[in-house]
Amino acid sequence: MRAMRIGSHTLAPRVVLAPMAGVTDKPFRVLCKRLGAGLCVSEMTTSDPRFWSTAKSRHRMDHAGEPDPISVQIAGTVPQVMAEAARYNVDHGAQIVDINMGCPAKKVCNAWAGSALMREPELVARILESVVAAVDVPVTLKIRTGWDHDQRNAPLIARIAEQSGIAALAVHGRTRDQQYTGSAEYDTIAAIKAQLSIPVIANGDIDSPRKAAAVLAHTGCDAVMVGRAAQGRPWIFREIAHFLEHGEELPAPPLAEVRAILLGHLEHLHAFYGEVSGVRIARKHLGWYAKDRPENAAFRAVVNRAESAEQQLRLTRDYFDALVAGVAPELSAAA
Ligand SMILES: Cc1cc2nc3c(=O)[nH]c(=O)nc-3n(C[C@H](O)[C@H](O)[C@H](O)COP(=O)(O)O)c2cc1C
Repeated sequence: MRAMRIGSHTLAPRVVLAPMAGVTDKPFRVLCKRLGAGLCVSEMTTSDPRFWSTAKSRHRMDHAGEPDPISVQIAGTVPQVMAEAARYNVDHGAQIVDINMGCPAKKVCNAWAGSALMREPELVARILESVVAAVDVPVTLKIRTGWDHDQRNAPLIARIAEQSGIAALAVHGRTRDQQYTGSAEYDTIAAIKAQLSIPVIANGDIDSPRKAAAVLAHTGCDAVMVGRAAQGRPWIFREIAHFLEHGEELPAPPLAEVRAILLGHLEHLHAFYGEVSGVRIARKHLGWYAKDRPENAAFRAVVNRAESAEQQLRLTRDYFDALVAGVAPELSAAA
């Protein structure tokens, strides 16, 4: 299996879970790694120290028990503040620091961070250099292809990244003004890969093993990064890994395995966030797991009513037990 390196870390398989705020928390990262992801990037964490003691930041910076390599994303606009944030996260377990210049949000962490920074190449250089100088771990960068159609300067930013000592670059094949619309274009990613010697990770709309292989072939990239397609489908990582290794598709996971994965995920969410927040956050994941099932609306309606961890687990268990037994689930009775 071809591997990819970030500093001293070897990524095998060459498939990465994209950072997604509100999605790639520790329970989801641990699950995706177990199911085949070579690397999972944390949710974005603010570089502003005033927010580090909030419950949200504490959960985002908690890496206890997380398998290596631990990659933590930071966002911000002030070089010295970003350097401090990088150091703080390394002190709290980060083995890779990832910098977010790919987020389309107008305001990230109360500043024009994210992809807006790509319009200021000199500031980009200063941020990257100060973060790289601040920590001993590898620093990676995530960008889009540019701000809008007329300002697609990702190749320039990519060169700056390499010169600043960035260890690997992830590129989402969209401009900032496209948000998540249209389809990702891979030609710019291929051009960036061709001009750099550091590893490049291709991102955008990769939703199947075949698509992953096609994007790797088209761009020549070292790895692929998967975001939305992993929501409710964490086993996509082993499916992609298997296809890249053997050129054949794995069968869909059996229902009994989906049941076990889902129940384990719920239990981890309840334990990590506590019952009230855990049950609420789990609803979102349950909706994603159910999205490809014909009976999904009914399932969601019932499970969303669960107020306690015990009830959420029981309803989910009952539902899958009925499906596994080949019986149409009695949803209203189960509630
Ligand atoms: C809900 C959500 C949250 C996201 N949060 C972040 C983030 O915190 N940092 C970041 O760099 N990108 C973020 N992104 C962008 C993803 O990392 C990724 O670049 C994008 O979804 C395209 O990949 P995909 O087509 O595989 O989903 C987010 C995307 C989504 C859908």
